[in-house]
Amino acid sequence: ERLPALLRLMPKAELHIHIEGSLEPELMFKLAERNGVQLGYPSVAALRAAYAFTDLQSFLDIYYAGASVLLTEADFSEMAWAYFERAAADKVVHAEIFFDPQTHIERGVPIETVIKGLGQAARRAQAELGLSAKLILCFLRHLSEADALRTLEAALPWRHHFIGVGLDSSECGHPPEKFARVFARSREAGLHLVAHAGEEGPPAYIEAALDVLQVERIDHGVRCTESPALLLRLAASRTPLTVCPLSNVKLRVFDTLARHNLPALLAAGLCVTVNSDDPAYFGGYLNQNLVETFAALPQLGAAEAYALARNSFEASFVPAAQKAAWV
Ligand code: HPA
Ligand code: ZN
Repeated sequence: ERLPALLRLMPKAELHIHIEGSLEPELMFKLAERNGVQLGYPSVAALRAAYAFTDLQSFLDIYYAGASVLLTEADFSEMAWAYFERAAADKVVHAEIFFDPQTHIERGVPIETVIKGLGQAARRAQAELGLSAKLILCFLRHLSEADALRTLEAALPWRHHFIGVGLDSSECGHPPEKFARVFARSREAGLHLVAHAGEEGPPAYIEAALDVLQVERIDHGVRCTESPALLLRLAASRTPLTVCPLSNVKLRVFDTLARHNLPALLAAGLCVTVNSDDPAYFGGYLNQNLVETFAALPQLGAAEAYALARNSFEASFVPAAQKAAWV
């Protein structure tokens, strides 16, 4: 088959991956043992059996429990390195990875442990895999803006280790407006801005992320098709959407891959990208997302494969000169 080969072999960037969501059950058990953390599941099989999600929150509950095994710089580094090796095998040449410092600070893990561990793996990815890797600090939207502001202040001494900030966790009931000041402060610090919006939340959350937070990319954003005016705006501005098809099916945003609106987003002229979100939980890394999505949607062919790869570089935060070498 030529299309799956093209999808697997084409160079690409990944822009929507939560590094804590790349923690495979086998490594989770290894770290639990090493750190003396009780996981609450007797085996890898029992843990995997619990990965039957009904919506975003049902996933988040298990995802935060899984992150409890991460304590040391070496733990964060080992987790990220495992992702970079898998990403390189998928021909990912550039990755912008999300991390959730509040999940770890809450458990008494210092923010510098998180940032130093991830940063070390990122430098090794560049040196040994030729994969450029950057970090994006995400605020948890179910917590207060004051907590997010404290987290930003704690992270700013390590400002040179990350390129931007994002917004993740429970979307409904936590609109972008709640984080207006922390995003303004992040912008003053010269950080890139992104936010999850329109995954489970309405199109109005996408508009607020753009207008109030002034984000440069929308993570997910698939519910934009419910607003024709917003769809036109996103196409005209080429505001990137980092779409995650396997995640969307696992969290029931779409019933099946065959019903995903990726073809409609591409046809409308949006700068759409495909990403893995939380690959250890949702059944596949980036190439698995691409191959399964294209298999389920016969409208998608070589032209769309090329457009997605090109969009992934256009949407990235690499300097213009580096971008020019890729697109
Ligand atoms: N949505 C919101 N928060 C998240 C996600 C997601 O898909 N993955 C990890 N945290
Ligand atoms: Zn996400």
